Amino acid sequence: MAEIDYIPSHHPASEYTCMISDAPRNTFYRNALTKTVKDKIVLDVGTGTGILTAYALEAGAKFVYAIERNPLSAKMANTVLSQCYDSSRFKIIEGNARSKEVIDQIPKGSIDVFVAELLGRAMFDQGQYESWKSFETVCHKHTVYIPDSLVVEVYHWEQLNDNQIIPAEVTYNPIIKNINLPKFENALHNYLLQNISTETNEVKLSYSTKNASEWIDTRCTLGQLKHVNLPEKITRVINVTPKTTDSTLNFQYNIDKNNSVIALNNRISCNVTGDQLEFKNCERLFPWMDSFFYKNLKPGTYEFTFISEESKTWTIKKLNLS
Ligand SMILES: C[S@@+](CC[C@H](N)C(=O)[O-])C[C@H]1O[C@@H](n2cnc3c(N)ncnc32)[C@H](O)[C@@H]1O
Repeated sequence: MAEIDYIPSHHPASEYTCMISDAPRNTFYRNALTKTVKDKIVLDVGTGTGILTAYALEAGAKFVYAIERNPLSAKMANTVLSQCYDSSRFKIIEGNARSKEVIDQIPKGSIDVFVAELLGRAMFDQGQYESWKSFETVCHKHTVYIPDSLVVEVYHWEQLNDNQIIPAEVTYNPIIKNINLPKFENALHNYLLQNISTETNEVKLSYSTKNASEWIDTRCTLGQLKHVNLPEKITRVINVTPKTTDSTLNFQYNIDKNNSVIALNNRISCNVTGDQLEFKNCERLFPWMDSFFYKNLKPGTYEFTFISEESKTWTIKKLNLS
């Protein structure tokens, strides 16, 4: 397979290569879909490349509605999926999943399995939680949600020296891998090779892999924790499910020792199938990024608040001295 050496940064494919090559993430979604979709009607919100729709179709889903708001991605998913599966088994709906026009295209009460990977570094950034609410009317009381629980945990080290924190090198490999659907993988790869430059009017440059890595390094300032012992104290601070009616995306946390270090870790699960994914194991997400990793905290109560979808971040505020 030829390497895709260069993907213009404004093309959606540049966002997808990391996520579709992330083995733990793909395994979580594929396992849960394989256990649930046979002969069922599936909704895939934010289909991107179409990978989750492909897993569902492969596992025998009767029909998949796949929604995508980015027109380039919607076109990519449609082309690639049509090359691999009978196009009477799926429908790509281009548009914002939260708009009435999109929701109205799906029959009420028809969805047996709801799958969405609308997750980012701050967990709630792309509206995973809101999407459950938006599509309530098209689901029914036995709908299986993948995932069906979004958990935020505080990892708390009372003693962690700087030299225990080893920033990991983030390697960017422009080769798509770990999809484990050869036909889909090839079709996607060929689509990217043929289309990314023409669609974006950029001259396709013959970049070396090294340049591609430099490019991603400059886009994401990443610091992963590697080889660090997990802390003794791990506290679950948020757990939202499709049934949660009042989701307060904020929490308070007490620090009682000087120079404590905390990090936020995310975990998603599908309790119906028993599958679970911790973001610290993901290759697609970088949970130990500086913004959600706080060092040298003084004793006191801290309030963490998730600030809207637009800014996609957690803020921390010290409430008092203890
Ligand atoms: C994290 S990516 C996941 C893509 C794909 N499902 C996968 O697993 O590789 C999220 C996708 O959802 C799309 N998306 C985010 N918010 C959306 C919305 N409100 N309506 C439709 N698509 C949305 C993004 O454009 C992106 O393609």
